[in-house]
Amino acid sequence: MSALLFFKKQSKLTAIKTTIFEEYITSYLIRKATSFQECNIADLFCGSGKNGNKLGSPLIIVNIIKKLFQFKYICDNFKVNLFFNDIDEENIKYLNKNLSTLTINKKVNIQIFNDDFYKIYPQVLSKMGKNSCKFFLLDPFGYTDITIEDLQKIFSLPNTEILFFIPIFYAYRFANYQKATGKVKDFLKTYTTKGIFSYKNVYTFSKSIISKISNLLETKYIREFILKDKSQINALFLITKDKKSMLIANNIFWQYSFNGKNISSFIKINNLNITSKTAYLILYIKKQLLSTKRNFNREIVKNILLKGVCEKQAQIIFLKLRQIPRYKNFIGRIRKSWYNIYKYS
Ligand SMILES: C[S@@+](CC[C@H](N)C(=O)[O-])C[C@H]1O[C@@H](n2cnc3c(N)ncnc32)[C@H](O)[C@@H]1O
Repeated sequence: MSALLFFKKQSKLTAIKTTIFEEYITSYLIRKATSFQECNIADLFCGSGKNGNKLGSPLIIVNIIKKLFQFKYICDNFKVNLFFNDIDEENIKYLNKNLSTLTINKKVNIQIFNDDFYKIYPQVLSKMGKNSCKFFLLDPFGYTDITIEDLQKIFSLPNTEILFFIPIFYAYRFANYQKATGKVKDFLKTYTTKGIFSYKNVYTFSKSIISKISNLLETKYIREFILKDKSQINALFLITKDKKSMLIANNIFWQYSFNGKNISSFIKINNLNITSKTAYLILYIKKQLLSTKRNFNREIVKNILLKGVCEKQAQIIFLKLRQIPRYKNFIGRIRKSWYNIYKYS
């Protein structure tokens, strides 16, 4: 989609992306407001604040924060710094205009930049307090604007999470192209484990990207959201070190995915169909239980999380396995470790 069209009318894929972002950042801010004194949010490809008549990411963030600061506890104990950047001067002008109509709590500090991402992000990083939590929305149009080294530098700060958008189908189309050159070649070489290769499908291509990011950024916790509308496919990746963030992202995924593979609608699903996935996971956990020694509960919980399990699925799995005498005790302990994710992170 052209840049011009993007800001005129919101497409279905953008609506899905925006919904996931809004759900996630709301829960993130609520959680962090009670565990940190300072939070930094950087939206470094922020756009103008609007797509058609729908809100774009910077205005979504500001609106959530406005609601949050209605609570006295948060007002007294929490501070938020927002960093918005876009390379396009018109977008920044429009964003400033949109923001000027809003009344924003003085503990929310907004800094706006109009520059290229690669020039601005080191400056933004240097402004973030060591003990603060940091969230980066990286939502470029293309897949070559952000290098894996940029991601590494950003993620090396403590308490950092990144929500990273890749128009993955465009990259996938070239994945097998031996003559790929320039930035496309660089992307394939640096962002995938196999480089230029004939991937089975876009899902295995995405897994290869996850594996590469996971190795280089030294975290297992990467939640993938494959967004699909007809033949168009994009991807969002939440990169974190926090188990609870992973679980929340898993919960969000299952609220919108009908098939456990991708998300093709921004409308919430009322009755989650989890039967097939649950059966598969029960088998998986049984296998893990038989192959691991005692006291590996945390390891098993980590693996369940990495399989993309949401809260509801976990409850069903634990319940079913507890009914089998052989697994009853094991499951009691695993269940305890699972609920500790909520208590301690
Ligand atoms: C997909 S849009 C962002 C949409 C925004 N997140 C929203 O919800 O409305 C991508 C934005 O990145 C900007 N952009 C493109 N290349 C850039 C670069 N190298 N540095 C900073 N901004 C860039 C574009 O002007 C565009 O506004």
